[in-house]
Amino acid sequence: MSQAAARFNEPMNHHWMPFTANRQFHEAPRIIARAEGVYYWNSAGEKLLDAVSGLYTTPAGHGRQEIREAVTQQLQELDYAPPFQFGTPGSFRLAHELAQMLPEGLNRVFFAGSGSEAVETALKIAIQYHRVRGQGQRQRLVGRARGYHGVNFAGWSVGGMVKNREAFGLGLPGVAHLRHTHIEANRFTMGQGEHGGVDLADDLQRLVDLHGGDTIAACIVEPIAGSTGILVPPKGYLERLRAICDTHGILLIFDEVICGFGRTGHAFAADAFGVTPDIMTLAKAITNGNIPMAAVAVRQGIQQAIFDAAGPDAVEFFHGYTYSAHPVACAAALATLKIYRDDALFARGAALVPKFLEQIAGLADIPIVTDTRGYGLLGAVDLATQGGPGLRGFAVMRRCFEQGLVLRVAGDTVILAPLFITTESQLDEMFTLLRGVLKSV
Ligand SMILES: Cc1ncc(COP(=O)(O)O)c(C=O)c1O
Repeated sequence: MSQAAARFNEPMNHHWMPFTANRQFHEAPRIIARAEGVYYWNSAGEKLLDAVSGLYTTPAGHGRQEIREAVTQQLQELDYAPPFQFGTPGSFRLAHELAQMLPEGLNRVFFAGSGSEAVETALKIAIQYHRVRGQGQRQRLVGRARGYHGVNFAGWSVGGMVKNREAFGLGLPGVAHLRHTHIEANRFTMGQGEHGGVDLADDLQRLVDLHGGDTIAACIVEPIAGSTGILVPPKGYLERLRAICDTHGILLIFDEVICGFGRTGHAFAADAFGVTPDIMTLAKAITNGNIPMAAVAVRQGIQQAIFDAAGPDAVEFFHGYTYSAHPVACAAALATLKIYRDDALFARGAALVPKFLEQIAGLADIPIVTDTRGYGLLGAVDLATQGGPGLRGFAVMRRCFEQGLVLRVAGDTVILAPLFITTESQLDEMFTLLRGVLKSV
């Protein structure tokens, strides 16, 4: 790979890279130059297997011609129009299509440009909803330890990743956190753990008892926490959260930025777990990762309350982004949803799940592996820390890249999220490579 670095001659110091050890990266760059199907090619032309669907973005495969054509056609027809006070045809079609797919009742859709923006939007909708109903005292937001809801102020405040919080001060006031759901008793479980679900969800009840349920606007969780290493909710957990929210008038927000669009083997995690939130955030796979886009799906009654409180000619929600419902993003999303339907891609992903989870579980015999878990096409392997937190994880990521495999690590946890079009033999290739690396670090 040093050969690859040698062939990459651009000066690197001008680009401040996100979530990256920049200076270390400059020493040994990992440059991805091309992609097609389930493979990337680095700048030296070497092939790499994508084990994490871009960044959970690209389940339908890299380089899909249908999306490319839709985007090209849209750019020729209408590149951009302002989303405030004007509309473009694609956004209405897309919102309608999403409403057909989403769990019943979630049929009003607000567009944003990223998962982080979707989260901010969802939390602001929740606060305004209560306010217009005379419950402006509901200001508290509840998140969860080890949750990830993007990097903007509300998102990191409700999020529970230490490194994403500690450098940035106090964050939003009035935020409380549930415990995370990764407990010892459920180690080495594929699917939902048997233990702790109701007790962990009762953290919300404890916050209600402490602060008063009528001070809490919303509780936001990822149905499966992705970024800190695929924390699957134990049985009964989400149901219990739903029940507590119902009892106390708290809005339940599912952040499905990773889970949405087939990742769990169902269209949405809400379908997989049979629990419907009041608000859902979506991004990433909505355009197969081809163009930035996000969406917030809302129960109709929430929108109705906000609309009813405003005069008939008034702007109801003072919120939006220059790139809300960008016409090119809408075209990419419409083409992506068509692929999901025409190729029955969620079913294809679901068919891969048993073998995938079996292979993840099969890594448990490697001495440095301290946990394996997964749900749908999301899998994680915890590694014993060596030399300091995250060092072994980073070494695994780097060695995998050198040997032709792109995966993610969160600290010392390896994360896999294969594309839905991955074949069984490509899965074998993925796990053979990973097993070899895990045995060598
Ligand atoms: C659950 C969840 N929410 C929000 C985000 C933030 O999305 P973005 O990076 O598009 O802002 C992510 C990103 O990984 C995520 O996983």
